[in-house]
Amino acid sequence: MNFAPELISLLRGTSKLVALTGAGVSQESGLRTFRDAQTGLWAQYKPEELASPEAFRRDPKLVWDWYAWRREAVKGVRPNPGHYALAEMAKRVPEFILITQNVDGLHHMAGNRKLIELHGNIQRVRCAECYTLTETWGDDTESVPQCLVCGGLLRPDVVWFGEPLPRDQLEAAVEAARTCEVFFSIGTSGVVQPAASLAFAAHNRGAVVVEINAEPTPLTPKANYAFHGKSGEILPKLVTAVWENGR
Ligand code: APR
Repeated sequence: MNFAPELISLLRGTSKLVALTGAGVSQESGLRTFRDAQTGLWAQYKPEELASPEAFRRDPKLVWDWYAWRREAVKGVRPNPGHYALAEMAKRVPEFILITQNVDGLHHMAGNRKLIELHGNIQRVRCAECYTLTETWGDDTESVPQCLVCGGLLRPDVVWFGEPLPRDQLEAAVEAARTCEVFFSIGTSGVVQPAASLAFAAHNRGAVVVEINAEPTPLTPKANYAFHGKSGEILPKLVTAVWENGR
């Protein structure tokens, strides 16, 4: 795979790089995306029935069990070369910020620490009433476990449709996008707001935008560089070309 010499020298010289990732970056780890035809979760399940506060009020057990199933799926997988390449980039660029829409925790597992989890993390559970986070909950599979502080129902600490993103995480993400020199958009369909507006915010502030995605997205026309293929194949090659070859 050939990368433009201008992109290589830009990345070698950049001091602030921000990357936004979506479900596509975890696809090669064996996790399903959301909107891929047939294979995406939303092709089989209705998000409004499983990933919204209304759905939880209507049938908390159905929602709890669905996230328990996804949590088990995440436990069974490992980061892929795309995750590790991003962890490598974090070591090479003076200021590297990783913003993810993923709730799978694989970026952290791959070693990224400057991480903004915009949509929460499926391994965390909190009370739906008092927001108390809890590490442990009984293995009673008959009912949704309750909060030991207020007795409220426990729920995954993720952002559901119709819910606001955690303010501090969102503000940090917007600030990072507005002040970076290079913005990578990786493995995201770019249709869910406000995450989908971050690349445009970076573009409008003069950042160079690089898209890596299996297919074109609404961002593609604005991207300075667009690579359409698997992030687990493209990212390691890019890291090698920029930081390993000819240094
Ligand atoms: N490498 C790169 N891109 C890939 C790969 C891969 N191996 N496999 C799939 N893709 C691309 C798909 O072409 C698609 O454009 O990743 C994108 C995944 O898009 P979505 O399934 O819409 O996932 P995402 O953009 O992360 O969704 C955003 O929506 O459902 C909510 O909260 C959920 O965080 C999620 C948000």
